[in-house]
Amino acid sequence: MTEQNRVAIVTGAARGIGAATAIRLAADGYAVAVIDLEEAAGKDTVEKITAAGGKALAVGADVSNGEQVAAAVDRVVAELGAPTILVNNAGVLRDNLLFKMSESDWDTVMNVHLKGAFLMSKACQKHMVDAGYGRIVNLSSSSALGNRGQANYSAAKAGLQGFTKTLAKELGKFGITANAVAPGFIATDMTAATAERVGMGFEEFKAAAASMIPVNRVGVPDDIAHTVSFLVSEGAGFVSGQVVYVAGGPLD
Ligand SMILES: NC(=O)c1ccc[n+]([C@@H]2O[C@H](COP(=O)([O-])OP(=O)(O)OC[C@H]3O[C@@H](n4cnc5c(N)ncnc54)[C@H](O)[C@@H]3O)[C@@H](O)[C@H]2O)c1
Repeated sequence: MTEQNRVAIVTGAARGIGAATAIRLAADGYAVAVIDLEEAAGKDTVEKITAAGGKALAVGADVSNGEQVAAAVDRVVAELGAPTILVNNAGVLRDNLLFKMSESDWDTVMNVHLKGAFLMSKACQKHMVDAGYGRIVNLSSSSALGNRGQANYSAAKAGLQGFTKTLAKELGKFGITANAVAPGFIATDMTAATAERVGMGFEEFKAAAASMIPVNRVGVPDDIAHTVSFLVSEGAGFVSGQVVYVAGGPLD
């Protein structure tokens, strides 16, 4: 089997990093399931893929809901085929300093990032085990190292690194690798929302971030898509349990 007949799932693929990753994986030759909260939200990504000659399917599901995840993966199997590539990218922010962070801010972030990755990986792994082949990539973050205002998010993103290493150990004997990509600052709606929260224009916010980054620019979604493309490739089969920081330089 080659990229030409493998099926990939990318969660949170309606926009930002997930959309760029879905488009890149489709260009690499995979049939791609674009999962996001609403099926309609994924149509734009699907249209871009099909316009370029690729194959894609938009599926609506909340990754933190076990029933919706099971139904979404069943639909992918029925309409595209059994998934052997999974990119757990769906994410949300509920930033606040600890003393102002609500219980629901904590739970929402844990549920989408950590429980979502758990549910999706569990639903997809049986197809990968059956195929004797699989690639799982989880989106961590440089915030896993700690970031002011992100106690929930940094805990979830650090948690995803432990989750990734455990999947690598459990699933390696079935031909499945698991790795994490930890982006630094990537210009998306997510970082635009952060700029708004701290009361800065997005351009000013990006310029301030770029001045701290060794390559002197902020990241773009394609920077992450390119790294994911490598990690899910057949040739990356000896790379597993790793966290790849994609941040324009080393992090302290
Ligand atoms: N942008 C950055 O600088 C940056 C840095 C490090 C890590 N990340 C991580 O990369 C991933 C993508 O980030 P982005 O910047 O593209 O974000 P984004 O906000 O632009 O896109 C996130 C997507 O996830 C979807 N989503 C949210 N909750 C969902 C749920 N419960 N079920 C299904 N889909 C859901 C949203 O609808 C949206 O389409 C996230 O996991 C994020 O934490 C981003």
